[in-house]
Amino acid sequence: MSFIILNYHNGILPIYFLYFYKKKNVTTNINQIDFKKSLSGEEIAFLIGCSGANSKALREMAGQKAIELRGSKVWFRGLIEFSNVCIKDCFYCGIRKSNTKVPRYNLDDEAIIQAARYAFENRYGSVVLQSGERIDNKFIDRIDQLIKKIKEISDNKIGITLSLGEQTKETYQKWFNSGAHRYLLRIETTSKELYQKLHPVNKLHSFERRLEALKALKEIGYQTGSGVMVGLPSQTISDLANDLLFLKEFDIDMVGMGPYIEHEDTPLAKSSQSAYTQEERLHMTLNMIATLRLMMPDINIAASTALQAIDPMGREKAIKCGANIIMPNITPATERKNYQLYNNKPCIDESADDCLSCLQMRIAFTGRETGLGEWGDSLHFFKKQKNEQLKR
Ligand code: 5AD
Ligand code: FES
Repeated sequence: MSFIILNYHNGILPIYFLYFYKKKNVTTNINQIDFKKSLSGEEIAFLIGCSGANSKALREMAGQKAIELRGSKVWFRGLIEFSNVCIKDCFYCGIRKSNTKVPRYNLDDEAIIQAARYAFENRYGSVVLQSGERIDNKFIDRIDQLIKKIKEISDNKIGITLSLGEQTKETYQKWFNSGAHRYLLRIETTSKELYQKLHPVNKLHSFERRLEALKALKEIGYQTGSGVMVGLPSQTISDLANDLLFLKEFDIDMVGMGPYIEHEDTPLAKSSQSAYTQEERLHMTLNMIATLRLMMPDINIAASTALQAIDPMGREKAIKCGANIIMPNITPATERKNYQLYNNKPCIDESADDCLSCLQMRIAFTGRETGLGEWGDSLHFFKKQKNEQLKR
């Protein structure tokens, strides 16, 4: 049902008339969708924007699908945000280079190893090394040494995920050879036009470079993760539908998607407003997670921390919609306040111990169990590998 406003001669004569659109192929109810087939862009857009009984059914279906394929486990990735020093200047990010208000820090090796040891002893299974972006040799070599050291102290048992931005293929290969096996690099948005509005126009922030980096990761053999922000200024539902189609087309192994949240000291927050309320961003992110779970049942999907900045139960809701990964923060509490990519980041005063017990409680609350001491790798990755071997 819809209203149309007609412009009449010079003045505006509003003629409201009711018309029922029964155009072919327009989805108005989730029951019209055949989930056994590949979803069309139009169907995906409907699912991202749907509400009420439709979104309830979507989320239940996706939650069920996740359990069907992976059992009821949710896996941990202990997140070590070891430095906020960054050469990038993304317009939305609180630790961007030009933000002079944020005190910069760089944890020493011992503190990083200590955090990794904590993760290992508490059976997290994996750690994520995340920091602002740097591409200098000193940084590259340091990461290389850290990867080797973390493998050594855990008797090769802990999985290492990296989230260190765009690097050359040689650097990715070097870190892979040293023992990292997963890499997270969000595409942020697959609309090139929007990407360019979110980043300075220069080589360091090019959309093509981001895509090339993702391709390089995949070629090397990393379990490759990507994702987008949801509810950015001027982002449309059709952009978001294209984002999900991209993730499917790219054959991604892992996904992290979260709501865009303003950071007061960024140009984006100062210059443009999101068309969506925070509640709408949360709603759309949960629908995106559920839709993607149905499109790609065997990938890993993270319940992003940004969800919790909007809703105290945001991550639990994501798990109920099909997410199966949680990233407890194990960064020493003294530095957490300086790694704020957006306003209202949760858990900045907690210690790693607090986060562990809090998250275990939260996972139990969703009726799921924690996959302690396991890597919880992406099944999709291994299926892909097997198919490629069969083709050879
Ligand atoms: N709101 C939400 N997510 C953000 N990120 C950076 N800034 C923000 C923000 N203001 C996300 C980006 C980046 C990841 C590390 O954090 O998607 O890839
Ligand atoms: Fe690019 Fe932080 S500066 S995400």
